[in-house]
Amino acid sequence: MSENASIESVLQETRTFPPPSTFSAQANIGSEEEYQELWQRAKDDPAGFWGDMAQNLSWFQPYESVMDGDMPNTKWFTGGKINVSYNCLDRHLETDRRNKAAIIWEGETGETRVLRYQDLHREVCKFANVLKGLGVETGDRITLYMPMIPELTIAMLACCRIGAVHSIIFGGFSADAVADRNNDAQAKLVITADGGWRRGKEIPLKAAVDASLEKSPSVENVVVVRRTGGDVDMVPDRDHWYHDLMQGASADCDAVELDAEHPLFILYTSGSTGKPKGVLHTSAGYLLGTTMTSKWVFDLKEDDTYWCTADIGWITGHSYITYGPLSNGASVVMYEGAPNWPDEGRFWEIVEKYQVSIFYTAPTAIRAFIKWGDQWPEKYDLSSLRLLGTVGEPINPEAWMWYHQVIGQERCPIVDTWWQTETGGIMISPLPGVTPTKPGSCARPLPGVVPDIVTEAGESLDANQGGLLVMTQPWPHMLRTLYGDHDRFLETYFSTIDGCYFAGDGARRDDDGYIWVMGRVDDVINVSGHRLSTMEVESALVAHDKVAEAAVVGFPHEIKGEGICCFVTLKGDDGTDELKKELIQHVREQIGALATPDQIRFAASVPKTRSGKIMRRLLRDIAAGRESTQDTTTLEDYTVLAKLRAEEE
Ligand code: PRX
Repeated sequence: MSENASIESVLQETRTFPPPSTFSAQANIGSEEEYQELWQRAKDDPAGFWGDMAQNLSWFQPYESVMDGDMPNTKWFTGGKINVSYNCLDRHLETDRRNKAAIIWEGETGETRVLRYQDLHREVCKFANVLKGLGVETGDRITLYMPMIPELTIAMLACCRIGAVHSIIFGGFSADAVADRNNDAQAKLVITADGGWRRGKEIPLKAAVDASLEKSPSVENVVVVRRTGGDVDMVPDRDHWYHDLMQGASADCDAVELDAEHPLFILYTSGSTGKPKGVLHTSAGYLLGTTMTSKWVFDLKEDDTYWCTADIGWITGHSYITYGPLSNGASVVMYEGAPNWPDEGRFWEIVEKYQVSIFYTAPTAIRAFIKWGDQWPEKYDLSSLRLLGTVGEPINPEAWMWYHQVIGQERCPIVDTWWQTETGGIMISPLPGVTPTKPGSCARPLPGVVPDIVTEAGESLDANQGGLLVMTQPWPHMLRTLYGDHDRFLETYFSTIDGCYFAGDGARRDDDGYIWVMGRVDDVINVSGHRLSTMEVESALVAHDKVAEAAVVGFPHEIKGEGICCFVTLKGDDGTDELKKELIQHVREQIGALATPDQIRFAASVPKTRSGKIMRRLLRDIAAGRESTQDTTTLEDYTVLAKLRAEEE
């Protein structure tokens, strides 16, 4: 893309769906005027606006100022003392919510556990005392590598109760990935489980932790929750069973009064270079953002049963399973397993069983549901649903229509929520009682969010011109830094467009001001709604002793959104099918199952421009084109292609 050019957008979608009047009549934000007024106020007077919103939180000590300093170094609520765990638990105990279900958990194997707010509070207090007993202090980093069980939420809230900083690693990452993250965060303790259930199989989490600890010496203790009952090796003095420690723990543990900007958690995410970035969020701003966006976008009400199907290992689970909903005192469904276990009706069975009213999932899941067929949702009563949401990648308009018709039965508004690990909470989304929705568009910015679409030179583009999506104003729930690397933080997000936050997406605005996100413009690929850097996969491949060079690109994939295609140049060997399998396994070991390559193609050389840059666009064309051809082409041909292309330039 040349500096001033816009990106071409090809999607044309003209259908609109106004919110049902019955929904608007009861909604937390119920009219266009109210939205406009909130949005304008937040733009013109952000300190006044967010100061008013902060009244929704419970403070130990009031702040002196709402915001100090310009983006990217804005500090929020200076002087204020707060505790996130207190806001998610203790304050509800003074109300009727004390007996309300906080977590309604369903195991993959069919069991149910319900923790009322007072139960959750008690468990969190006990576990916070356990952590203290193991020497954990305010500011220490704790790795959580756990299945989707209530103990994960308990561990998160116990960390923030005492000011420890959690770093949650999705259970699909490998031992090596855990070690890298432990080392980067200098984690002192790991909380894990013997294993987790996934499609009837046990994922051996503790074994992966054991392997990771050979390479991450900062970890002193490991706490292990018994979940599957599988065999594990317990290392004396280092490893402790959760249930043993909890038995003797006191349920008395005051929440520590922490500075508003006290670090809350680190969450590693992929960027366009090989090394994962430790996105750091802090206490008050993040809590405020997730609390308010949950109210606005999910229209949370006291009697809702809310279910977000994400894994807590991703930002969606942090913000919209744990912090946002619990701060609002909601009843949250949490499901441990896969959507197609024991059969493809499992999600809809859960909706019926718990009378779920708000359902939030990902486009990749919706595409899988479509493939599995309407007979599955049709078997169940979905009439309890009143609101649907999506997150993670652009939703194809046809998948949106299916979601609207088959799951929402044309009754439920759909909120297509655009945001990122770095933004902490939802930024651009319809308001379900206000915004007429258009399939495939995440609609308009929420109050407090002031986006623009610009050229690479930073000039605002007119309607219907694609460009870079940026944020022009700071917001309380934005990341504060990349852990241990503030320069990389400045360089990654604030050096592309002067004075603006940019995290890699292209988008356009239509004539109604609706935003249509077109996907990443950097070397990040979005596989099933999960970010992976092409460089990360390349580094993993090059670490194999037979590989000389690798180039990795995404290609369109029916279910995953994008698949992973690897062009690999070998040091000497011939490329065999055996070696392909070995390389796929190698990437899984280095990064995890989520990075499993879909295609490995051996190449005599990786095509590069004269200046030595990998010709990714060409490789992307080749990767996508392969769908219709046989796997007989040799990479010699690609090299020839590359040479031809290079000569044309
Ligand atoms: O490309 C955008 C896409 O997901 C990226 C953020 O990924 P991650 O930090 O893993 O967070 C995912 C969950 C919040 C974005 O840069 N993305 C996320 N939501 C949408 C989306 N693309 C289009 N529409 C969305 N609703």
